[in-house]
Amino acid sequence: MSFLKIIRWTAWTLVAVALFGVTGVILGWLQVEKFGAGRNTPVPVVSSGVPTIGGPFSLVNHRGERVTQDTFKGKATAYFFGFTHCPDVCPTTLFEMTRHLEQLGPDADRLNVVFVTVDPERDTPELLRTYLESFDPRIVGLTGTPEEVAAMAKEFRVSYRKVPTENGEYTMDHTASVVVTDAQGAFVTLIDSHEDATMALTKLKRALAD
Ligand code: NI
Repeated sequence: MSFLKIIRWTAWTLVAVALFGVTGVILGWLQVEKFGAGRNTPVPVVSSGVPTIGGPFSLVNHRGERVTQDTFKGKATAYFFGFTHCPDVCPTTLFEMTRHLEQLGPDADRLNVVFVTVDPERDTPELLRTYLESFDPRIVGLTGTPEEVAAMAKEFRVSYRKVPTENGEYTMDHTASVVVTDAQGAFVTLIDSHEDATMALTKLKRALAD
């Protein structure tokens, strides 16, 4: 290899390396501009701002009558899911709802309070009727076939499951928040089971104002 050839070869090699480097920088820049930055930007979500909680259902009330979502339209409604064998959370919540109805005074006539069982195998309309005698007589109990209850729970984003107990019986784990809808059946808010009574009452009043 002559000296001149070595010079030429070196020159072309340097040009190739330079081009490779420039291409790399440009590609890298494009990557950051077009994709990298996009990856860090939150994807815009089209939303009305109201979660889809609630929906159609068909169950039987504690008087044995068939009811649907339309039965409760025309009034704001507080739906609570639980079961009559519940030792703690359910009776507490129903006592609190009883007190809210009392404190709402005449406004309570514009509110439905609905207790939906997640234990339809044990909670017949008769048992619900007896159980609800301990609470405000305006509270409506709902039950149905396990499939009907499961369908409503799904619409209301409520989960529950059977948990076997030592005596061979079972208890139910379940979502314990109250779902509040407006008079058209549209979701307004949730009342958490740990929420204080004043806050819960404020939320119910908000649903009545909608
Ligand atoms: Ni319970």
